[in-house]
Amino acid sequence: HGTSTIDDNGHLNIGGCDTQALAAEYGTPLYIVDEALVRQRAREYVEAFRASGLRFQVAYASKAFCVMAMCAIAEEEDMSLDVVSDGELHTALKAGFPAQRIHFHGNNKTPDEIDMALDADIGCFVVDNFIELELLNALAADKGKTVNILLRITPGVEAHTHDYISTGQQDSKFGFDLGNGSAYSAIEHGMKLANLKILGVHSHIGSQIFEVEGFRMAVDKVADFAVEINRKLGLTFSVINLGGGFGIRYTEEDKPLPVAEYVQAITDAIISNFSAASYPLPEIWVEPGRSIVGDAGTTLYTVGTSKEIPGVRKYIAVDGGMTDNPRPALYESKYEAVLANRADEAAEETVSVAGKCCESGDMLIWDLELPRVQRGDLLAVFCTGAYNYAMASNYNRIRRPAVVFVKDGQADLAVKRESFDDIVGNDVMPARLKKPS
Ligand code: LLP
Repeated sequence: HGTSTIDDNGHLNIGGCDTQALAAEYGTPLYIVDEALVRQRAREYVEAFRASGLRFQVAYASKAFCVMAMCAIAEEEDMSLDVVSDGELHTALKAGFPAQRIHFHGNNKTPDEIDMALDADIGCFVVDNFIELELLNALAADKGKTVNILLRITPGVEAHTHDYISTGQQDSKFGFDLGNGSAYSAIEHGMKLANLKILGVHSHIGSQIFEVEGFRMAVDKVADFAVEINRKLGLTFSVINLGGGFGIRYTEEDKPLPVAEYVQAITDAIISNFSAASYPLPEIWVEPGRSIVGDAGTTLYTVGTSKEIPGVRKYIAVDGGMTDNPRPALYESKYEAVLANRADEAAEETVSVAGKCCESGDMLIWDLELPRVQRGDLLAVFCTGAYNYAMASNYNRIRRPAVVFVKDGQADLAVKRESFDDIVGNDVMPARLKKPS
């Protein structure tokens, strides 16, 4: 996995760092991010787009993993940034990310969030619905600003993915429908709003997608729409944003394509559709999240207790679980793992990995082949870079783990482990409940 190797002591090394040493220094559970791999993935996108000759922006979908260090890396790798809340926007600004390269998404941006983004002069708003179209125009007018927008359209393309995370089909909370004329009306109406400048449209067809066919279909539909708008309303789109959703390999069941192949399918489809219509080639934006950070993340746990039900199953429990990785419980997601302190030993038993939360559904991996597991062993679960720390919770008042970035044998803390003070930090004891001291 990634740039991980096994050293002479049988320890798993990531980014040139011994995971056992990392566990000793930072404690477990610990998220480890292989910085070189994040940068490599970002470069795969940027280079594939450069090869197409099209103008482009690769906007890292920060929802996958949004911390200041990650925003800084996105900036250094020439990416733009997609944010969906005031918290993500704040993180990006605090990291010094250039506001003009920030795109603001979301189906219910509050007036406060819009004001914050207007004040920061972000590059683009992706408008999701008619109410927001009016609201954004009014708030921009209040500040005497004109803002760039894309309209999010629902192209009616259903990509092969897990049901819970598909957003491209028509029955979705997101965007203006292409099929029923609402996307057309939105453009027609938006063109009349003086403080909005429509750059083009946005489409996102789902997440963890393996085939290119869905992206091709989305491009076909968006191109037809662009031509129709141009003919009937005289507006030419300068930007087409095709969202994210490029799949990664969690287990051997997953067969993603190399990044360059997704990009090429998109750029080829854009060039052929728009050229055929003698339409000026638009700038192409994409928003990969998972495929930038997913396989660069590893979570390190310490094995504690175990329970064997003879003839049925052996459970081992680790010192984290659904609080640091809710994806198995939410989506039945599958992960691979090894014993990080004995990565050179052959598998001897089949175990199922449980978390420590007070909930039966708190399972990380079913039926994992490992060497004979002992209390105190370190378990490394791979591919936890996306939607893990980002979706972590304090259920059972468990403290969120630390995050370290590793590269060339050096480890840098990017997020501190939460403290007990953090846990009670927002609690307020009403005076009438206070114990007399
Ligand atoms: N752009 C938009 C508009 C999106 O809604 C998303 C993801 C992305 C980009 C990035 O997609 P990615 O490249 O990461 O697939 N929590 C779920 C994933 C939710 C994805 C939501 N939208 C999970 O853990 O699988």
